[in-house]
Amino acid sequence: MTELLRKFSSRAGNVLVYPDPETASQEAAARIAEAIADSVAARGRAVLGLATGGTPVPVYRNLVALHRLGRVAFDDVSTYNLDEYYPISPADPQSYHAYMHEHLFGKVRIAANRTHVLDGTVPEAFVDEACARFDSWIAAEGGLDLQLLGIGRNGHIGFNEPCGLPVDEFAALPTRLAELHPVTIEDSARDFEGRPDRVPRRALTLGPAPILAARVVLILAFGPRKAQAVRAALDGPVTAELPASLLQRVSEKTTWIVDEAALGAA
Ligand code: GLP
Repeated sequence: MTELLRKFSSRAGNVLVYPDPETASQEAAARIAEAIADSVAARGRAVLGLATGGTPVPVYRNLVALHRLGRVAFDDVSTYNLDEYYPISPADPQSYHAYMHEHLFGKVRIAANRTHVLDGTVPEAFVDEACARFDSWIAAEGGLDLQLLGIGRNGHIGFNEPCGLPVDEFAALPTRLAELHPVTIEDSARDFEGRPDRVPRRALTLGPAPILAARVVLILAFGPRKAQAVRAALDGPVTAELPASLLQRVSEKTTWIVDEAALGAA
């Protein structure tokens, strides 16, 4: 069923280029299903790191379709989401809790106590504790078998935003409360009635450390708006100024699934 246009290896991993987001998403869903089957066979469970945003929507749609065809089961799957706005209620339609329920958790048979999304209602004094607990839950499950990622226009992964930290210090950051970058606020406004002023200024995010520790990383990028960040992540310097460039440190386990437009003009 492959509609693969071409593939090449980059400093940040193998890159699979598809004609459009739909065919790319079919491939991503098939790879997630395969990772689930392999991990369940190998260790009795599969632990997925999941992403939100516009990009993974068709991936989840294809994954739900595979589930309905009996090609993937979630009985032995645990999920840990990358991020969540802070503060936000899980009942808020703009929350990533609501997103995950709408696109995946509400559509497949998965136990509620196996789906984990960072809690945007934790009192501020307990945020560090809640983030450390999230990391310890992942560790207690033996780490992430697969981390699904999108990429921000500014090269962010999760809500790990561009910053001036030395790269080793940045790579070691755990799950934590982070400030949103102005570009992210602008892009997230589409989920908040187009009103940047309604976008929370902060978010909880899985840190680079647990992301980079995943056994497999699958990163998706669709459309020309991502081209600059994608090109820099694939070929540019490894720097906290472009968080996705850190994938160059784990290139052997990283696959990029992109459409032609996300690579920009050759
Ligand atoms: C969002 C999320 C990221 C996501 C990225 C790209 O703000 N925090 O996890 O990967 O930005 O979003 P989109 O796929 O909508 O372009």
